Amino acid sequence: MPNAYISGTGFFAPPRVVTNDDLRSIYGIDTNDEWIQQRSGIKERRFAAEGVSCSDLAVPASEQAIQRAGLQKTDIDMIVFCTLSPDQMFPGTGVYLQRKLGLCDAGRFIPCLDVRNQCSGFLYGLSTAVALIQNGSYRHVLLVGAEVHSSALDLTTRGRTVGVLFGDAAGAVVLSATHEDRGVRGTYLGADGRYADTLSMKIWNIGNRPFIPVDADGFGRIEPRSMYPQMDGRAVFKNAVERLLVVLGESLQKHNLAANDVDLFCFHQANLRINEYVRDQMNVPAEKVINNIERYGNTTAATLPSLLFEAEQSGRLRRGMKVVLAAFGAGFTWGCSVIDW
Ligand code: UT7
Repeated sequence: MPNAYISGTGFFAPPRVVTNDDLRSIYGIDTNDEWIQQRSGIKERRFAAEGVSCSDLAVPASEQAIQRAGLQKTDIDMIVFCTLSPDQMFPGTGVYLQRKLGLCDAGRFIPCLDVRNQCSGFLYGLSTAVALIQNGSYRHVLLVGAEVHSSALDLTTRGRTVGVLFGDAAGAVVLSATHEDRGVRGTYLGADGRYADTLSMKIWNIGNRPFIPVDADGFGRIEPRSMYPQMDGRAVFKNAVERLLVVLGESLQKHNLAANDVDLFCFHQANLRINEYVRDQMNVPAEKVINNIERYGNTTAATLPSLLFEAEQSGRLRRGMKVVLAAFGAGFTWGCSVIDW
């Protein structure tokens, strides 16, 4: 059985920087830099321009990952696309990426799978891609986490608890088959559907007939509560630290590892305070944890591949290192992955 390793990483964030002060001065949100930094660690985020969708951000990130893997686009055997902000409700975003990468023009009608697991999406996608490589189905899988949050956030004072936290970006990795003794050793996933409504966006309610209420002229009418994500922040925070500590502890134990055997931890970037608390409880020194939430905010499915890219680029992540990824988010869903880089 081949191993699956990450052969290339890529990242792209749209150029427009939106600072915490901009949220107040440009959008008129009753918030301030001190509140946002103290509660979340975020200083700024990126917002995509009008007309830019999730698959657009994914193109440069994917091209970079493929190039850094030393491959051609046509070498990719499958796309796994993780997002909570798809280009359209359907079809999935993977097929748009396939088309924009030129794979259809090249006659590469490879399978495209979309993963809908929010902040844990990248780890759910990773687990799937690794299994497909290990069972011999594919040699190179492009795994993407990408989000355009900015067009679906309530950027008013009403939505400030959620709106100030999220940003737009795309991260990508290529997973490749190898017979070398390296790669993704295990990914451990979980979910607790009792909290499905604790962080959710209910614009699409297929139980309603029609699914969006219509006015007398037949036009859909949506109240802001349904249009934008809603979150019980304190419940998410509490569950995040509890679940992350458990899944990290269990995953390390499965591989007979102590926390100090790990060279680099990449935690989902939802809140710096969550990550600092988890690090502190695990007695992990700060230099073994990489964060970038201060520059990008929470980019949901894109956070983990963006960290891997930055860690590789800066030389913090090198061949032979032991890397642990962990994430928690809406669903609730969570996961942890142990990798020999
Ligand atoms: O990746 C998805 C997973 N998401 C998460 O992991 C998020 C987890 N939760 C959190 O990160 C935190 O709960 C938040 C950062 C969202 C909020 O921090 P908090 O310490 O739980 O604040 P809070 O929601 O309890 O609000 C405290 C106060 C409230 O005012 P009062 O009622 O005490 O007068 C809010 O109205 O802060 C107010 N507030 C704000 N003030 C300025 C809420 N949002 C803002 C804001 N700017 N943006």
